[in-house]
Amino acid sequence: MLGDKKIVFSGVQPSGNLTIGNYLGAIKNFSAFSDEYHCFYCVVDLHAITLRQVPAELRRRTYETLALYIACGLDPEKNTLFVQSHVPAHAELGWILDCYTMFGELSRMTQFKDKSAKNASNINAGLFTYPSLMAADILLYQTDLVPVGIDQKQHLELTRDVATRFNGIYGDVFTMPDGYIPQTGMKIMSLADPTSKMSKSDPNENAIVYILDDKDTVLRKFRRAVTDSETEVCRREGKDGINNLMTIYSCFTGKTDEEIVREFAGRGYGDFKLAVGEACADQLAPVREEFARLMADKAYLEDIMKKGAAEAASCALKTMRKVRKKIGFVN
Ligand code: TYM
Repeated sequence: MLGDKKIVFSGVQPSGNLTIGNYLGAIKNFSAFSDEYHCFYCVVDLHAITLRQVPAELRRRTYETLALYIACGLDPEKNTLFVQSHVPAHAELGWILDCYTMFGELSRMTQFKDKSAKNASNINAGLFTYPSLMAADILLYQTDLVPVGIDQKQHLELTRDVATRFNGIYGDVFTMPDGYIPQTGMKIMSLADPTSKMSKSDPNENAIVYILDDKDTVLRKFRRAVTDSETEVCRREGKDGINNLMTIYSCFTGKTDEEIVREFAGRGYGDFKLAVGEACADQLAPVREEFARLMADKAYLEDIMKKGAAEAASCALKTMRKVRKKIGFVN
């Protein structure tokens, strides 16, 4: 705990343009914690280099991800917003936790299996030990709650296992974190293949709606979304495309499935797709405007990064002092 507040930590990789999956599964929910918790929201650039990045793009996306955090409603006065590589304790604790994470545990991580299948020419050690670094991110701040999409659940469970192992050897060093996975929006699916997750690294642009897509693009992508040969808007097994659109519509409008079914009874998919696109574009319009304003003021973003890194580092230092002492490193 920081003061008397519990801690929230989450991170987003600056490894591509952010999607409405990132928004609905994670970022949109972040600001709800800002009053009650001390929140650390990190741009995890150390994680991003587990896949090869173009340096200039990584740098630009790091600014962009920070700007998006703010544009999505995170007040830098109320949240600690920072860049992972600016706080070296992440890498340090990451290495330490590598030594408390088992090869077998890492081998079971489905994201590692997926990513190594997709990047067969660059299955580097960092990609393999990625979850220990994520555990370090979380445990460094004595985090209580981690808001993420469902794809991070396995990594969170590993974090808890590593914390339990470490605490079992050295006493209570780390707070045991819980995940916060939203009921609706935890897994937004691809518009082109609604049986797989919408992912910012998908090469098919029609599969993805980016947070920063303009209204015409958003409407076009939803119009082309893969559905099925029926006409009824309702949630049912096998209707993956419509189920996904209902989830997205529900996230943007707050409407329940029953309300959505009633609203589109007898109206067909064309009307429904247009409504989903409009709800999405309208909610994201102010985010886009604010993003553009922020990106025009790099100095402001750099100030936030600097202030955020200092706050994060001072909190991380407390945990690192404890960890170093417990392990037996000479002070
Ligand atoms: P990343 O950058 O892949 O995604 C950022 C957040 O977006 C969520 N997300 C989704 N949610 C719903 N539907 C989708 N299609 C979708 N795609 C992505 C992710 O679950 C995530 O919450 N390993 C993390 C970054 C990380 C982290 C951390 C997160 C590093 N350290 C510590 C929390 C705590 C990742 O790759 O997220």
